[in-house]
Amino acid sequence: MTYTEKDSKYRRYTVTSALPYANGPVHIGHLAGVYVPADVYVRYLRAQGEDVIFIGGSDEHGVPITIKARKEGVTPQDIVDRYHSIIKESFAGLGISFDIYSRTSCEEHHRTASEYFSKLYNEGKFIEKESEQYYDEEAGQFLADRYITGTCPHCGNEHAYGDQCEACGTSLAATDLINPKSALSGSKPVLKTTKHWFLPLDKDEPWLRQWILEGHKGDWKVNVYGQCKSWIDAGLQPRAVTRDLEWGVKVPVEGADGKVLYVWFDAPIGYISFTKQLKGDDWERWWKADDTKLVHFIGKDNIVFHCIIFPSMLHADGSYILPANVPANEFLNLEGDKISTSRNWAVWAHEYLADFPGKQDVLRYTLCSNTPETKDNDFTWKDFQLKNNSELVAILGNFVNRTLVLTQKFYGGAVPAIGDMGGEEKELAQEIATYPERIGRSIETYRFREALSEMMNLARLGNKYLTDTEPWKLIKNDPARTATVMNLSLQICANLAILCEPFLPFTATKMRRMLCMEGMPLRWTDAGSVALLREGHTTSTPELLFEKIEDTAIQAQVDRLARTKEQNEQAAWRPAEVKPSVTIDDFGRMDIRVGTIEECAKVPKADKLLRFLINDGMGKRTIVSGIAKYYPDPAALVGRQVCFIANFPPRKLKGVESQGMILSAEDKDGRLVLLQPSDLVAPGCSVG
Ligand code: 2FM
Ligand code: ZN
Repeated sequence: MTYTEKDSKYRRYTVTSALPYANGPVHIGHLAGVYVPADVYVRYLRAQGEDVIFIGGSDEHGVPITIKARKEGVTPQDIVDRYHSIIKESFAGLGISFDIYSRTSCEEHHRTASEYFSKLYNEGKFIEKESEQYYDEEAGQFLADRYITGTCPHCGNEHAYGDQCEACGTSLAATDLINPKSALSGSKPVLKTTKHWFLPLDKDEPWLRQWILEGHKGDWKVNVYGQCKSWIDAGLQPRAVTRDLEWGVKVPVEGADGKVLYVWFDAPIGYISFTKQLKGDDWERWWKADDTKLVHFIGKDNIVFHCIIFPSMLHADGSYILPANVPANEFLNLEGDKISTSRNWAVWAHEYLADFPGKQDVLRYTLCSNTPETKDNDFTWKDFQLKNNSELVAILGNFVNRTLVLTQKFYGGAVPAIGDMGGEEKELAQEIATYPERIGRSIETYRFREALSEMMNLARLGNKYLTDTEPWKLIKNDPARTATVMNLSLQICANLAILCEPFLPFTATKMRRMLCMEGMPLRWTDAGSVALLREGHTTSTPELLFEKIEDTAIQAQVDRLARTKEQNEQAAWRPAEVKPSVTIDDFGRMDIRVGTIEECAKVPKADKLLRFLINDGMGKRTIVSGIAKYYPDPAALVGRQVCFIANFPPRKLKGVESQGMILSAEDKDGRLVLLQPSDLVAPGCSVG
């Protein structure tokens, strides 16, 4: 039983989550934006007794995969095999409960995508068009999508791709790029004629406008609606659905050798082919019946593909339903910086599982409470620790533990009889009854943060009830009321075991085990009751639901990120631009000499400064230099030779007169290194 009116007409749900590219593992950004919300939604629907399928799989075509394969000297199939299994295991490890997790390189998918194209082709639904596309003459290949890079005409990013600029998010055509360059050879591409098939999106504009802009106003999320509106208002153009590439689903048309389906044409068909794999002959109900609700969970960069292009493909076929909703989220950042696979700026799901065994729900909880629903959000390790220690441990864990420990202590684990309920108890029972709907409505309207916080409010309510009634004291003089308090507290625990399941499935399993509820086929709508556990029902020995996460575990993660940042900065380092030309006379005016260090010591009260006494062949001179940080043992420098500018006017630094400037090189990490001749030379000789 769903709570929102619109949903009551549906008899089954097809829920899809964006197919991640199998060219890298999945990270917290993917999880927070797509997979955790989708999983919460699906688990909730299942708890409601709804008929639901949850479809996932790897997107194994597309240029990034072939580029990676080429770089590593392996085949694209090797790449996708590697990442498909890492991704699949990560999802399973985190309890993302797909009914099927398949892949687009499989036979069923190739057949389905190929048949889909053929049907539209035979019905004349495509425009067949010759156009000029970039071609790499050195590599002898057309340059589709990411095989071409250049400057984005919208934001000036010099590393935009032929299909999209990741800096400003604009979707591009390769010919839009300024200074296009082949990602294969680095050469300047030429334009060459080639034939492709196009989906005439321009013709779809009227019904898309009506379906989305009129039909889903106020119903789809503002960010999703807004993006669709600006696409439609800008005027839709025919969109090529084939590419000159080897890796992908072959175009099933005579004379189309060397051409494959565009990855964004074949990938969403994956949702259909995976349903076929899951449901066999029964698959069509899930895609063609009007009482099926189709919901796509995606990230914001996928909106146009799921709201305009895929619906236009479904509409062109004519026998499919359209998505009822496309709850796209914004992005999650990490410690204030954009998550990036290439910069390794991410928390990888498989690494998290290895570093924090048994703490799957802590990550689910943190990500769900940070779901970037309306704006980009940030994940920090400190916040992760805080959410665990101050919310999961201190609120939910503490309440359940206190209740079960007291039940063991007072009643040997058996649920005590509920006595007369006073005003406070009646109010409590009434309030408990509101939670399934409160949480349910939030989930049905894709407000997952709110839903999670409502669930925690029930645990807060339980905690407050225990703290207010103090059964550990009450037992001494009012055992009857204590029994009522403990009974109600246990009922709240049982409610939480049902209501926390979509968010915290591992915890829910533990709670059901401790409350001996495993055999009870309880649904969402059974929650809200204060009679879930009968009098005399036994509970088992309590175990801690959550453990405190110590500073050392968090520091290890923060340190890892700091190392990554440093490596990235070093990798991004480029020598400074060469300065404007000077003449030999300009250079000649600088008097650079070699001198030998006779004394070297820190300048008192100046952390950065070292005072050098230099033998310059003519006498001694003092030079002060700001390199103390890099030479912690100044005395060890005595005897070394350095180069210095001898004709700088003297100046005072922290009260010491400096007679020149010692030369050093600045390394890419900002470290200053003294320059010295490769052989000993006479002090005072000139450098030139
Ligand atoms: O953006 C992505 O990661 C794509 N691989 C999503 C594809 S979703 C669907 F269409 F298959
Ligand atoms: Zn841009």
